[in-house]
Amino acid sequence: MIPKETSVFLQTYGCQMNVADSRTVESILLDAGFRSVGNPDVAEVILVNTCAVRESAEERALGQLASLSRLKTQDGNRIIGVLGCIPQEMKDELVRRLPFLDLVVGLDEYRQLPYLIEERLAAAPGQPAHVAAKLNRRELYDDVAPHHSGGITAFVTITRGCDKFCSFCVVPYVRGRERSRPLVSIIADVEQLVTKGAREVMLLGQNVDAYQWDGKSFADCLEAVAAIEGLQRVRFLTSHPQDIHLRIFEVMRDNPKVCPYLHLPIQSGSNRILAVMNRGYPRERYLEIIESAREIVPDLALSTDIIVGFPSETEGEFDETLDLVRRVRFDSAFMFKYSARPHTKAACMPDNVPETEKIRRLEALISLQKRISRERNLAQLGRVDSVLIEGVAPKSSSQWFGRTPDFRPVVFSQNGEMPGQVVRVKLGELSGFTFRGHPA
Ligand code: 5AD
Ligand code: SF4
Repeated sequence: MIPKETSVFLQTYGCQMNVADSRTVESILLDAGFRSVGNPDVAEVILVNTCAVRESAEERALGQLASLSRLKTQDGNRIIGVLGCIPQEMKDELVRRLPFLDLVVGLDEYRQLPYLIEERLAAAPGQPAHVAAKLNRRELYDDVAPHHSGGITAFVTITRGCDKFCSFCVVPYVRGRERSRPLVSIIADVEQLVTKGAREVMLLGQNVDAYQWDGKSFADCLEAVAAIEGLQRVRFLTSHPQDIHLRIFEVMRDNPKVCPYLHLPIQSGSNRILAVMNRGYPRERYLEIIESAREIVPDLALSTDIIVGFPSETEGEFDETLDLVRRVRFDSAFMFKYSARPHTKAACMPDNVPETEKIRRLEALISLQKRISRERNLAQLGRVDSVLIEGVAPKSSSQWFGRTPDFRPVVFSQNGEMPGQVVRVKLGELSGFTFRGHPA
């Protein structure tokens, strides 16, 4: 028996998939009688949902876990558990490096958490960690509605895992095989989220374009979700140039609820590097997709992921990435230095771009992209657009914070509106990347 209302603190690192997984974990724990708390110092159980995609993300999560050991020293009965991608990637090393851990629980084992915690609460302190980190290609958590604490935006996972095996990426090894959730359960989740106050939903998957269920494609899924009454907006993340279909842009054009925003990672502008990365497309194909997408949805906002300093990347190849960024003119980009990840093919290649050179390339790329982002934002000034109010602005309690359909952040003075409402706003001054809105 779980002691009544045992308190749990859950901290999340990493991508939106991890955030969505944490909502699933919360739902499993709350259903089992646990109580969620916002401070690790007062929690009987501390869980950290970790990310392994890049070395820096992994080090951050491991550093946080190491610092939690002080809470274990204060109270030996406290339970500390690691969830997410790191347990899949290096469970043995984890237990060796952090001997105070109680639980190491992988991505497909979250249903067991209440029992594992219960067992641990009943055990004598000082036992070696319990490790449960088997992958299960059938686990979709389909019957577990993600916990929603009332926000305007919510995440819904539609595919799990990835079969693409990009040579730099650990995801297929830690998240397992690609699989799609039944459309009926996705719809049921979104309907339930809407009854709990959500007005915008972000459909999530490592590669949403690979969605396939009972003859339904991702475009069908988008249409079906957009048809749900009470829902104002649908977004999705992440797309893959190999699988994306132009019908997705037609759905976007024809359905005002589907937001004109696309996150389409390019990773590199060099065809040789793209081939060694095993991305499955040359830069010309990527440019073609963007051109067609912009023809169908002229006001499409675009973002991407780019890696610099991949093994053997030459200066000339990096210049091709800069050239591609100049051609596409992304609205925003997530830019990373390559780091070798365990299990991956690229980890067997010599990591031979010196660290100082990686930093120089990253800085050059960031400064180019910042200039383009700013120019694209400046071009929006004076435009009137719809803003979905998400809540009070972080820096001023008399202002609302919201976003345009193409994901630009806007703050504006409150005037009797409510979160969840869509208001027409004229985009005024820019402060950093945030617009000040004026009543339109
Ligand atoms: N090194 C650097 N960046 C990486 N990413 C994935 N693996 C690595 C790695 N080994 C980046 C990719 C991916 C994003 C989520 O993280 O750009 O799209
Ligand atoms: Fe990783 Fe490539 Fe799959 Fe994206 S598509 S999760 S980069 S393997």
